[in-house]
Amino acid sequence: MSTEISRRNLIRAAAFAGAPALLPAQGANNRVNVGWIATGTRGAHVMKMMYNAVPDNVIVSAVCDTYAANLAKGKDQIQSIGKNTPSTHVDYRDILNSKSIDAVFIMTPEHLHHEMTIAALRAGKHVYVEKPLAHTIEEGAEIVREAKKAGKVVQVGTQNRSNSLYIKAKEMVAKGMIGEVHYVRAFWYRNALEQSPWNYVIPTESTEQNTDWKRFVGTAKNRQFDKDRYFRWRLYWDYSGGISTDLLVHQTDITNFVCGKTEPVSCAASGGLYRWDTKNDKGEVPDTLSALYEYADKFHINYSCYFGNENFGYGEQFMGNEGTIEVLNRQTLRFTTEKFRGKAPAHVSARKEFTEEKPGNDVPAVQDHTKNFIRAVMGLEKVVAPVEVGQQAAISGHLATLSLRNNRKVLWDTKTQKYRFS
Ligand SMILES: NC(=O)c1ccc[n+]([C@@H]2O[C@H](COP(=O)([O-])OP(=O)(O)OC[C@H]3O[C@@H](n4cnc5c(N)ncnc54)[C@H](O)[C@@H]3O)[C@@H](O)[C@H]2O)c1
Repeated sequence: MSTEISRRNLIRAAAFAGAPALLPAQGANNRVNVGWIATGTRGAHVMKMMYNAVPDNVIVSAVCDTYAANLAKGKDQIQSIGKNTPSTHVDYRDILNSKSIDAVFIMTPEHLHHEMTIAALRAGKHVYVEKPLAHTIEEGAEIVREAKKAGKVVQVGTQNRSNSLYIKAKEMVAKGMIGEVHYVRAFWYRNALEQSPWNYVIPTESTEQNTDWKRFVGTAKNRQFDKDRYFRWRLYWDYSGGISTDLLVHQTDITNFVCGKTEPVSCAASGGLYRWDTKNDKGEVPDTLSALYEYADKFHINYSCYFGNENFGYGEQFMGNEGTIEVLNRQTLRFTTEKFRGKAPAHVSARKEFTEEKPGNDVPAVQDHTKNFIRAVMGLEKVVAPVEVGQQAAISGHLATLSLRNNRKVLWDTKTQKYRFS
């Protein structure tokens, strides 16, 4: 353990109700010894955030990526921030085989989360895995079962749960400040086409030789090497659920968090490829998606996403019978009351409307999310996005993909954890 963490804290931690067993950390200076799997866009960012959040409690001693340039960048980042030289790998299993690694961060494309998380848990590692938890409902359920068996800490990368504005919104809803909440509107609008759909760049220097195509494909359908698929994986069903599992899951997850919900009982989604140029751009997933969710207890989410106009940005509007809380772009919280056409009850009109601005509030959210994970590994806290919550978030996303692709409404049985088409 880090020298920062006193003996007294450790004893207090050991008594922490429900906390995982204290980690017999073995890294240099007794810090949590981390193995980093993938240093693409997200991996590099989250690593920086972790270093910012808990610089004295971690050492990243091994890094893996199947694209040589990203592996080199990851190593450089560790050397410049962490001041140590990590071992480098193209096969993540080398990291899992190292007994001294306590925890891994899995920052790979969606379709690899299942295989890697299961293997990490079986190797006795604690896991921080990016959202969505897995590529299918069934894979996610298997991860949940494996995590229970392993008794290890799992944090899913739905960092809105660590965002102070959503935490405030949750407290306000619990206090009854917007009355009963039956309806939430959530949306994400973008207009990014500078590089390509979803604004991806394919590095010009990338080749079949410096990208490990087979390891990227993993258990997905075997195909010929294709740079577009490797670097723009989000555009293909083999590796991604598209908007549903990439953006929507954040928003259904945070709606569950703020309003105290878990899983919907149905989803009807529709959309298509309207904006992206299907003749010249490769890719399969839609750029336009609407999804309607019903929950068992009179609760409804109206979701929409479009990649051709960003005027409204993104956010969630929690529409209570007595007022509205909007969290916009993860950095603005706006509270307004219902006016009841000039006849608002006294307890409602007495409430003060306000707007709180926290520019760039996703940065501290990611920092706090990684800190929460590392402290949970140390036995000092519980994770705020445990594996069950990650699976609940992913279920909403997968239901939308299933509904969209089959052009049918999907019914979800929360007891049997099975879906069927209506
Ligand atoms: N929580 C958030 O707000 C948020 C934001 C962005 C992305 N994400 C998630 O992060 C994950 C990664 O997304 P990204 O945008 O960084 O993608 P990316 O394409 O930029 O990076 C993926 C990296 O994984 C590497 N890789 C591919 N196969 C590998 C393998 N078998 N072993 C090791 N490395 C491998 C690639 O070379 C690349 O460096 C996704 O699950 C995505 O949904 C989360």
